[in-house]
Amino acid sequence: MLDRGEARPDTEIPISAPDLCRGAAPTVHAPAAKPIITLRDVRLTLDSRAGPVDILRGVSLDVPAGQSVAVVGPSGSGKTSLLMVLAGLERATSGQIRVAGHDFGALGEDALTRVRGAEIGIVFQSFHLVPTMTALENVALPLEFAGDRSAFETARGLLDEVGLGPRLDHYPAQLSGGEQQRVALARALSARPKLILADEPTGNLDGKTGRAVVDLLFGLQRKRHATLVLVTHDERLAAECQRTIRMSDGVIASETVAAAA
Ligand SMILES: Nc1ncnc2c1ncn2[C@@H]1O[C@H](COP(=O)(O)OP(=O)(O)OP(=O)(O)O)[C@@H](O)[C@H]1O
Ligand SMILES: [Mg+2]
Repeated sequence: MLDRGEARPDTEIPISAPDLCRGAAPTVHAPAAKPIITLRDVRLTLDSRAGPVDILRGVSLDVPAGQSVAVVGPSGSGKTSLLMVLAGLERATSGQIRVAGHDFGALGEDALTRVRGAEIGIVFQSFHLVPTMTALENVALPLEFAGDRSAFETARGLLDEVGLGPRLDHYPAQLSGGEQQRVALARALSARPKLILADEPTGNLDGKTGRAVVDLLFGLQRKRHATLVLVTHDERLAAECQRTIRMSDGVIASETVAAAA
């Protein structure tokens, strides 16, 4: 059994506008997008019987709003852990985490849950749908929690958007893998999050189905002007993002910014 490290309350660290994702020619009137993610020396250490395990070992990162970022790296390098910290599902042991203007170190669990519900959409490799609920109910559930009085109507519109209008009343077991992931996408985007976190969203899908899900993901991200952090083992998919971060042994070892970014 592992214990989480204690989150340390942080003091404000001055943050400069990121140089990433600027066009080739400097434009006087277009300031760089404000970072939606700012990480400073983020560390995650978990205690195990064998002793402490250093999972993130000092990650610093700025992501401007609207950017698509791929996170690649070998198995065990910390990609999912980084996503968990960004989602506020895992508390960093130390360092500063600001997401959509919120200092995660200063938030209690309830506040963190609220921020996650309002600002962050998460898509996992294994869909994580509620098996006893229909597609429509799965998408409507978070909307109801968020107080949307027309949750079912909104959910119907979202499922239409991902091409599942004719499958509203199907349970997850009655849907193909690709369809389940489209439901999961609709659910993740239901609250119109500023930030989408996706952890190998095509990992359980065949190439063609995965491609359709990815096209949908990128399409919705652009349409909503959302920021995307996409963990993938697929280098070709990573190359479609504006920026690629390579994790190695709990740190960002290198990164590339696409020419057109
Ligand atoms: N709860 C935990 N307790 C201890 N160690 C953990 C825990 N969760 C993950 N780890 C370790 O942290 C490291 C990073 O794990 P993580 O899941 O972030 O890797 P990953 O890059 O996503 O790998 P993959 O590509 O296989 O999904 C691994 O060495 C893993 O064994
Ligand atoms: Mg992982």
